Amino acid sequence: MDPVTSATFYRVLFERMITRSQLISAKDLEVDGCMFLDMSSGTANGSSMELGECIQNTGFHEDDETEDAVGGDEENRTSTVKMSPGREEDTYTQIKPYAGMPKEVLLLYSVQARYRLPREILFWLTIVCTLALVALTITVIVMSPRCLSWWQSSPVYQIYPRSFKDSDSDGIGDLKGILDKLDHFQYLNIKAIWISPFYKSPMKDFGYDVEDFRDIDPLFGSMQDFDDLLAAMHDKGLKLIMDFIPNHTSDTHQWFNLSSSGHAQYKDYYIWANCNTTHAPNNWVSVFGNSSWTYVEERQQCYYHQFLKEQPDLNFRNPHVRREMTEIVRFWLEKGVDGFRMDAVKHILEAKHLRDEPQVDPQQDPDTIDTEFELHHDYTTTQLGLHDILQAWRGEMDVYSREPGRYRFMVAESYDYEETDKTMMYYGTPYVKESDFPFNFYLMDLPTNLTGTGAQGLVNLWMANMPVGKWPNWVVGNHDKPRISSSVGQEYIKVINMLLLTLPGTPTTYYGEEIGMMNINVTIDEIQDPFGKFNPNASRDPQRSPMQWSDGTNSGFSDANHTWLPLHPHHTTVNVEAQQKDSGSVLSQYRALSLLRQAQLPLHRGWMCYIWSDADVFAFLREIDGLDKAFLVVLNFGADSVINLSAITELPEQLTLHMSTKQENYGMPVIKSSIATARGEGLLLEYSTHMRFNPGHASQCFVSEKACYLGVLDILYKC
Ligand code: GLC
Ligand code: MG
Repeated sequence: MDPVTSATFYRVLFERMITRSQLISAKDLEVDGCMFLDMSSGTANGSSMELGECIQNTGFHEDDETEDAVGGDEENRTSTVKMSPGREEDTYTQIKPYAGMPKEVLLLYSVQARYRLPREILFWLTIVCTLALVALTITVIVMSPRCLSWWQSSPVYQIYPRSFKDSDSDGIGDLKGILDKLDHFQYLNIKAIWISPFYKSPMKDFGYDVEDFRDIDPLFGSMQDFDDLLAAMHDKGLKLIMDFIPNHTSDTHQWFNLSSSGHAQYKDYYIWANCNTTHAPNNWVSVFGNSSWTYVEERQQCYYHQFLKEQPDLNFRNPHVRREMTEIVRFWLEKGVDGFRMDAVKHILEAKHLRDEPQVDPQQDPDTIDTEFELHHDYTTTQLGLHDILQAWRGEMDVYSREPGRYRFMVAESYDYEETDKTMMYYGTPYVKESDFPFNFYLMDLPTNLTGTGAQGLVNLWMANMPVGKWPNWVVGNHDKPRISSSVGQEYIKVINMLLLTLPGTPTTYYGEEIGMMNINVTIDEIQDPFGKFNPNASRDPQRSPMQWSDGTNSGFSDANHTWLPLHPHHTTVNVEAQQKDSGSVLSQYRALSLLRQAQLPLHRGWMCYIWSDADVFAFLREIDGLDKAFLVVLNFGADSVINLSAITELPEQLTLHMSTKQENYGMPVIKSSIATARGEGLLLEYSTHMRFNPGHASQCFVSEKACYLGVLDILYKC
């Protein structure tokens, strides 16, 4: 419709409306005090009725537009407006509402049933759909189990930086060396890397004695090297966990120098007590042996150290110390590190009263007490207030965890041995978060519990004591303990890795365990570890030998003539390069298990149920409700054995061999009444069943957060 015709048409329409006094009156059209029809300039049935100023529709500016169209001729205009009744009717019936129509006209149509009805249907449809969407969103949120975070879905790999890879040929590993080897983690499907300390340090305890918490030791590289490493790791989807050492500094730390000289601001940064050269303030002993007090001439007092005398303990009762340490936590979080391993946390506070600790053997001559095992550490470990400190740091880390995908992880290191309740405290409470988990060191005792029942007992020590809903973890080696492969023998390396990677929770792998590295022999003259200097039997050097990458010079670890610790003589055969080529190697199996653990729902989210344990075998299953596929893990820690699982009705008669640490008959059927394992063999059997084991055996089964699988939608939901 051209503007002229449209203007004419509306005029006619309006005339009809008004004449018939149908729906509106002039008063009705008054909006915001503005008349839409100027009644003064014409009569209701007059042909020269004018539109008021407030009409917005340009189609109604007939004066201008009609003028344009008819050349401003009054005659023509009048005649255009007047219509014969027949034509008028035609035009009226032909018109349809359209976007350019003024509101008043549209209103006329809007009440007609054919417009009103669809409109109302649409309106209610919109309401219903919106409500349905809101309800669906709420249901999905409520029903969805939490997604696993990066520290739950990947094993944690520990790098001892002195021994991983040397890039500058000084015989000691460094940060650039780690950067060169990042592909190793991608190969192993490992995303979380904990690097033992690389802070500036005089290296009395190889980095656990920190001189500057905000600097990198030149031995390991520069801050630029650190930034490059972190950026490269993030680029590859790897997370970096740093060691944080709150309990002590190095005695070369600036704070200690100032404290020793009695500087007003720093004098209470450490723990000082009156003593003299011959008499310590009390009977407290260092973890590394001998009295934990050392006299300083300058101050004429003793300072306290739970470890080496070169590692003075910070005084965490001093708020300035707490603030300083929190700022250091923030410094690294700002840099972008993904988490902290909190070192030696149980030692952070000690009793103010400084009373003697009770002797384990009250009859022992007090003057002969020089090891930590001779005292009950009632006043030097796990003191009231310790968890408040850790929880405050957790709070700091939470602030930095809010960015999507940037959760900052905390693991606490505390050796509480059989005092499981003390260890579990580091999980926090249901209301106050602390570490994501404390390290679980119980599997390190496998060498002295090398039976099926022994292995189950160690696993159960954690599972039975872990607070409900928390996430378990497993450690079989680190830089402080002899390599388990040396203690249990090479034949058990693969089965131990299978245990580690098929249990529920996060496995931690100490560098070299993925290829079955073993302890080296270190002669008394070669001892590097200060603890080893105090007690050669306790030396930690044997488990710190250089990583075995290839059969080349220094096993590909370094081009130097001399490495800081000798390489294990078996490095020519036990190395990454050789094992990558061998599908039955420790490395290939580690990799396969790591990939499988991520790919199979029952292995990373499912139930773990004890099935069997005897002198040789420990067997457990992994299943998830709603999924017919499940796994049975049969691990042999003794002699060759055949077990009969016929009594377990939830298991089908026949299972399928998914993986064995000894044979390559994958896919082979295995009958449940006769499951054979050789000494040190681990089997991963797959099966399909509609019957779940966990509902009828609650006391044998564990799950951190229950989830069920819904096959039709391929989703997990809370159940
Ligand atoms: C932790 C470390 C250990 C170190 C000690 C003192 O236990 O793992 O290597 O010697 O703390 O910092
Ligand atoms: Mg180097």
